[in-house]
Amino acid sequence: MKIITSAKELQKEVLKYREEKKSIGFVPTMGYLHEGHMSLVHHARKENDLVIMSVFVNPLQFGPNEDFDSYPRDFERDERLAKNNGVDIIFYPQVEEMYKDTFSFHVKVLNKVNVLCGQKREGHFDGVATVLIKLFNITQPNRAYFGMKDAQQVAIIESIIEDFNFPITLVPVDIVREEDGLAKSSRNVYLSDQERNEAPQLYEALKRAKSLVEQGEYDVRTLQLAVSEHISKHTSGEIDYVEILNYPELEPIQVLSGKTIIAVAVKFTKARLIDNITFDIKHINN
Ligand code: PAJ
Repeated sequence: MKIITSAKELQKEVLKYREEKKSIGFVPTMGYLHEGHMSLVHHARKENDLVIMSVFVNPLQFGPNEDFDSYPRDFERDERLAKNNGVDIIFYPQVEEMYKDTFSFHVKVLNKVNVLCGQKREGHFDGVATVLIKLFNITQPNRAYFGMKDAQQVAIIESIIEDFNFPITLVPVDIVREEDGLAKSSRNVYLSDQERNEAPQLYEALKRAKSLVEQGEYDVRTLQLAVSEHISKHTSGEIDYVEILNYPELEPIQVLSGKTIIAVAVKFTKARLIDNITFDIKHINN
């Protein structure tokens, strides 16, 4: 496995593989890897000749009061995990390599950002879009792998690929969970013992809503209330949002129809957790 820190050097390496007509799978991450990230790697490994992973905590996607400085980092561990799971190249740039002092652009995402995390974390998806446009140009992948844990991110990346004409296939990958249902996340390490015990209730609340849908409840307000009440009753966290939208358009709806996302964000003392379920109402058996 190669570790490359320079964008130019990686572009040279990528050119070699493209000339040999080898397919490239790309897994962008901010490191502190867990089984969620590894699931993306496993999909990429199966479907491509070469797997490139990036490990870069992107300052542009953190707000001024967010956790950029304290975001967990452990590159040696990441390196070991990546190597053991079949990554061929890790791209591990410094902030100065990605954003030179002369960096002259500001990418602004116009659609799909006035809901969910986009509304709560101003500028977050502008930062995500900026780094991904750079990373796509540096790694020139055939396929790029993203987790449905960040479903709004997936919906926005679909638009980036479409609007900027990247010849890349986006591969969405299912959420990987702990045995008790908590979605794996690098930020779970911030939870206290009590909060860690409560955290699986986010998924329980989402499952409860899905079972109500299966029983024929299609009213968004009623479902939203059921989710909020479950979370308030079973956790000490503060609800940031409970939203039900169509997916991937992310438009508000009053009554379920077609593909739907139910998404939650809950603030615990040191961690803000997100989770969601997506389903197609046409495939719900009731
Ligand atoms: P990060 O939070 O490190 O996540 C990297 C990728 O792993 C994302 O596509 C995310 O959705 C996926 N992932 C995280 N937890 C997962 C889980 N439990 N199951 C399945 N997939 C999971 O998302 C980012 O980094 C950044 O925004 C990035 C895209 C790298 C741009 O900076």
